[in-house]
Amino acid sequence: MWKKLLLVLFFVENCLGSPEEEDRIVGGSSLSIEFRKYQVAVLPGDFVCGGALIKLDCVLTAAHCVNNFAPNEITVRAGSNFAQSGGQIQLVTKKIVHPNYVTSSTGYDISLLKLREEFTESSYIGVINLVSTMPDVGSPIIVSGYGLLSEDAAFRRVYLQSVNVAILSTSKCNTSYQGLITDTMFCAGVIGGGKDACQGDSGGPATFNDELVGIISFGKGCAEEYYPGVYTKITAFVDWINKKLTGLGSAKVFTLCFSEAVNVVKFVLEVA
Ligand code: ARG
Repeated sequence: MWKKLLLVLFFVENCLGSPEEEDRIVGGSSLSIEFRKYQVAVLPGDFVCGGALIKLDCVLTAAHCVNNFAPNEITVRAGSNFAQSGGQIQLVTKKIVHPNYVTSSTGYDISLLKLREEFTESSYIGVINLVSTMPDVGSPIIVSGYGLLSEDAAFRRVYLQSVNVAILSTSKCNTSYQGLITDTMFCAGVIGGGKDACQGDSGGPATFNDELVGIISFGKGCAEEYYPGVYTKITAFVDWINKKLTGLGSAKVFTLCFSEAVNVVKFVLEVA
């Protein structure tokens, strides 16, 4: 009798809205691209990753998303609620993976992509600034992407999702990840798990007050109670990013992205 009642309750709950159907990113909700104009889909081969537009022709993403691909195998979609359709598409002409990158779990999971042309700014496409200081432990951040809705979900064509999580202390996070988390990474999650980024979200933005604070990098599974998401810490790479962007300090001249600056310098060196 009780068993039957429990079974009925179980079905009622599932019909009213099973967690599987409601969960987004993992544990988040749909978010229109208008409210996340700098979110892009980075599409290397058949894979889906995220990225953030830091200039109209320059994307910040995770190194592990693009490391095994040549620039001409990567496209970037901006201004769409879907990774596979809509918005505008740009080709990648240059890729800079951080030289210290080996695998996502050893850090330096960061890469810059130079696009062939600028995206056209609109109410769906825009750029994001980098944070200048790392927010305190406990600060709320927003994480977004087109990735899986749960750890064991089959890939579905997902409407852009976002989820709110909080920055965790690195020492606490290291009790789970056994010392893997260094000072160029940070962890974020919620008590009890259930909210996190997941496969397909990598490379995408983690923001604090609408400034870029992290890049989605890795995690054991998704939204597991004792394994929060791990992010590349933007403040550890601001200098590297700016150096690549401006090319040897000529910030005003080289507003485009980094490759022009590098090429000009190379050319001058070659000619000299
Ligand atoms: N590495 C995965 C990707 O390539 C996802 C990383 C985020 N995972 C997590 N549990 N926070 O898309």
